[in-house]
Formats: sequence, structure tokens, C-alpha cells
Amino acid sequence: MKIRKAVFPVAGLGTRFLPATKAMPKEMLPLVDKPIIQYAVEEALASGIEEIIFVTGKGKSALEDHFDRSYQLENMLRERHKDLLLKIVASVVPTTGTIVYTRQNEPLGLGHAIWCARNIIGDEPFAVLLADDVIQSDVPVLAQMMDQFDRLRASIVAIEEVNPADTSRYGIVDPVGALDDVVRIRGLVEKPKQEDAPSNLAIIGRYILTPRIFDILGKGIVGAGNEIQVTDAMSILLEKQPIFGFRFEGKRFDCGDKAGWQMANLAFSLERPELRGELLPFLEQTMMSNGMLRN
Ligand code: UTP
Repeated sequence: MKIRKAVFPVAGLGTRFLPATKAMPKEMLPLVDKPIIQYAVEEALASGIEEIIFVTGKGKSALEDHFDRSYQLENMLRERHKDLLLKIVASVVPTTGTIVYTRQNEPLGLGHAIWCARNIIGDEPFAVLLADDVIQSDVPVLAQMMDQFDRLRASIVAIEEVNPADTSRYGIVDPVGALDDVVRIRGLVEKPKQEDAPSNLAIIGRYILTPRIFDILGKGIVGAGNEIQVTDAMSILLEKQPIFGFRFEGKRFDCGDKAGWQMANLAFSLERPELRGELLPFLEQTMMSNGMLRN
């Protein structure tokens, strides 16, 4: 039981980034010089995923073009002897046949988007990656989770402690026993108010799920935000199979949120020597003029 396939639900409307996302998918927003989605695809491939399934929606053709060859661009770069750029552009494209596309014809929620991939997944455990959550780590987070799956042979969700005041932005788990790197989950709730939250352990956008989830998602149960939620389907799955939460090693940025996306851009830029030298003095100056740093 190897995890071979990964689902990338990318059919959301990205309303928090309007008007930037009016004609462009949120997943194509750049993080320094790569679109957000590319980080997640690279993470999946580096973890050993063999098949990538994009669940797309209306107006997402830029995503398909990004992961396809562009002969015109490649020829132009070749003629201009831009060898490094040519290499970078070519390296974006996985071996042909690695990516499969399906459409979610109505944005009915994350759970519904995952269900749209049921026939492509078939009867095997699979991964789900939400590109919005970009994670800086030494070992790709999905690889960390796949290691845990080899041991646990059950569904696993990535979890992280969040500010208790922010529980209403996340799916929250109710863990059994003391907090450890791997916790058994007793219950899950989507976007609870702080006073109703069973913990401050939030589900982050990396999942390993067993195919049984599709039967539950197929019932189309509508939950928080009037959407078909994967968290609700996992609560039902819990009655039949164990589910574990995994506290991964890495720093997570919520790039589906404006502040989180800006923070990610800063953090990733500061790791690039060619940008760091220009950015640091600018940051220092900005902080000083805002009274946050003294001379
Ligand atoms: P979000 O909750 O971030 O929603 O979805 P969104 O529509 O992308 O963005 P906002 O909130 O309007 O700004 C989490 C993930 O689930 C996918 C999104 O593409 C994103 O990767 N999703 C969500 C779907 O694929 N289909 C849906 O119906 C809803």
C-alpha cells in the first residue's frame, strides 16, 4: 500500500485575493518567482508521488499551461542564449502523463472537490495537498507523512497548534491523550468558535486518506459555510477507521490569506542571497520610519 497519487484541489474561487484572482487562479500567485502551486507539486514529486490529479474549475487554464511545454518561449530563450532560464522553464514540466486533470463543475466545497477525483484514485490510499499551505522544511512534509503512513496504515492529517482565537478559520481536531508528534484523533470540527473548539490543533493542508472517504463524500453532506467539507466526512470515517494527526517539522505559511502570502514572500526572499542584500536594509529602514526600531 504505497501512496502513489496526490489530489490537488484547485477549483476554489480565491475571493480573498480579488481582484487579483478575477482572471487568474489564486494558485498562480507568485511566491518570489514561482507560482504557489509549483511548491506543492515539487513537494509531492520529491516525496515520491507518481500521479498528480488537479481538480480544476472555470478559468484555470493558466495552471495547465504552466505545467506544459512552451516551445515558443523555449525557442526564444535558446536563441537569446538564456541557458539558465531555459533550464528553469523546462524543469517545471513533469514527465508527460504525470498530471491528470478533472473538473469540479461547481465550487461546492473542498470535500466535493476531492470526491471529483474518485474515479482517478480508485481503491487505494492517496494524498491531498492544498497549495495555499506552503511549508518550508528540510524533509518535504508529504514525505514525512508518508513515512508515518508506512507505520500506521491509516488516514493522517497534518496538524499544527494555532492561536486559540483563530480556531474558527480551521478544521480543529480533538486529540486522544497527551500531545505528541503523532496523536490519535477522537473527533474533528470545521471552523469552531474558540469557546466550542476541542483544542487549538488545526488541520493544515496535507492529508493522507483511505478510499473509504469517497463513499462518505458521495453523500454530499453540507456543513460549515454551506459547503461539502472533508472535515465532516472524516468525522464520519472515524466511526469506522482510525485517523491520526501528525505534527510535522517545518514552517507553514497560509498563502490563501493576504498577510500570510506577504510573510511567505518575505521569508522565501530573505533566503535568496541575491534578494536578501537589497531587502534587509529596506526592511530596517521601513521599521525605523514606523517607529518599530531605534537607531
Ligand atoms: P479555500 O477555503 O481557501 O477557498 O479553499 P478558496 O475559494 O480557494 O479561497 P477564498 O476563501 O474564496 O479566498 C481551500 C482549498 O480548497 C479548494 C481551493 O482551491 C483551495 O485549494 N477548493 C475549495 C476547491 O477546489 N473547490 C471548492 O469548492 C472549494
